[in-house]
Amino acid sequence: MIKFAFVLADGSRQEVEGRDGDTVMQVAYDNGIEGVAAECGGSMSCGTCHVFLDQATFDRIGAPTENEIDMLDLVPSDRHATSRLSCQIRIDAAFAGADVNVPESQF
Ligand code: FES
Repeated sequence: MIKFAFVLADGSRQEVEGRDGDTVMQVAYDNGIEGVAAECGGSMSCGTCHVFLDQATFDRIGAPTENEIDMLDLVPSDRHATSRLSCQIRIDAAFAGADVNVPESQF
């Protein structure tokens, strides 16, 4: 299992574990993380699964695709330099120890 943490807008932290190959969105759903709405279920058409990563993790994992970047341009919540769509991040060993920050609102 791969351990990482969600950091909510109020600063609270929830440690979670996911399986290799899970998406961050799926792990959020499985752990009842509030603030990751993921309304389209992972088909990259809603942008409501937006999160932003700690810089080291963002640099360590693969870069977002052009399609993901295009969708990130449309998210209503505050965009950061390390923003990602949680449905597009498949976790593996490189994701261990990540801080996944959840925006205050996805809408
Ligand atoms: S769940 Fe809709 S874009 Fe990720």
